[in-house]
Amino acid sequence: MAAGQRRPSLRAAVAAVPLLLLFALSFWSQAASVAADGGAPAWTTALQQHVAYFDTDKDGIVSYSETEAGLRAIGLGAATATAAAALINGVMGPKTRPDNATTSQMDIYIENIHKGMHGSDTGSYDAQGRFVQAKFDAIFSTYAKAEPNALNETELEEMRHANRGSNDYKGWAASKAEWDMLYSLGKDKDGFLQKDTARAVYNGSLFVTLAKKNGGSSAGN
Ligand SMILES: *[C@@H]1O[C@H](CO)[C@@H](O)[C@H](O)[C@H]1NC(C)=O
Ligand SMILES: *[C@@H]1O[C@H](CO)[C@@H](O)[C@H](O)[C@H]1NC(C)=O
Ligand SMILES: *[C@@H]1O[C@H](CO)[C@@H](O)[C@H](O)[C@H]1NC(C)=O
Repeated sequence: MAAGQRRPSLRAAVAAVPLLLLFALSFWSQAASVAADGGAPAWTTALQQHVAYFDTDKDGIVSYSETEAGLRAIGLGAATATAAAALINGVMGPKTRPDNATTSQMDIYIENIHKGMHGSDTGSYDAQGRFVQAKFDAIFSTYAKAEPNALNETELEEMRHANRGSNDYKGWAASKAEWDMLYSLGKDKDGFLQKDTARAVYNGSLFVTLAKKNGGSSAGN
C-alpha cells in the first residue's frame, strides 16, 4: 500500500542521500568501537543492536543489497533507497575493507568502521558503544522546557550547539544529520520528539518499528 502512495521526487531523494549517509556512517562507526572492544562476534550492546538491523544475514558485513533492503523497509522509496545505498556502501565499503578481503568493494565491514567516528555527540554512548542512561536523561532534563520529556526543533538545535566540540566540523555535520533525520522520522503531530522515540533509536528498535509500520518485509527480524 505504501509503495503506491509515495513516490519521492528527485529533489527529495537527492536531499535525503547525504543525510542518510552521515546518519548511517555515524551509527555504524560507533558500532565499530564495540566490535573492536570484545571481539565477540555476537552483537550485544545498544549500538550493535542498532547496526544489526541492516546486517540481515548476521555475518558482520553490511552489503549493498542489505542497506537497500533495510532503507526500503523503513519506508524509503525505491529510487531513494537505491541512491542512498549506493552512496553509503560506495563510500564506507573501501574505508572499512580489510586489505586481504575478497568480497565486493561495496561491502561494509562493521569491525573496521571506527574510521568514520565523529565527535560533538551527546555522550549517550560510551567509548565502548554502551548506552549511558544518565547522559541520555540529561538531554531531556536540560533542554525539554516547552514540554516535559519531549524536544521541539528549537530545543534540539540548542542541545546540538551545546554539544559541539570546537572546530569539529565533521562531528557537527554528522550530529546535525543524525538529529535532523531522527527528528523528521520520529516527531509527533505537534512537532515534538518524544523521549521514548529517541530512546528507541538508541536501543535499535525504532527501525524495526518503522519497518513493521510500513508493512514491508522487515530487513531486521
Ligand atoms: C585476513 O587477515 C586476517 C588477519 O590477518 C585473518 O584473520 C583473515 O582470515 C584474513 N581473511 C582472508 C579472507 O584471508
Ligand atoms: C520550543 O521550545 C522553545 C524553548 O523551550 C520555546 O521557547 C518555544 O516556545 C517552543 N515552541 C513550541 C512551538 O512549542
Ligand atoms: C527500546 O526503547 C523503547 C522506548 O523506551 C521501548 O518501548 C522498547 O521496548 C525498547 N526495546 C528494547 C528491545 O529494549
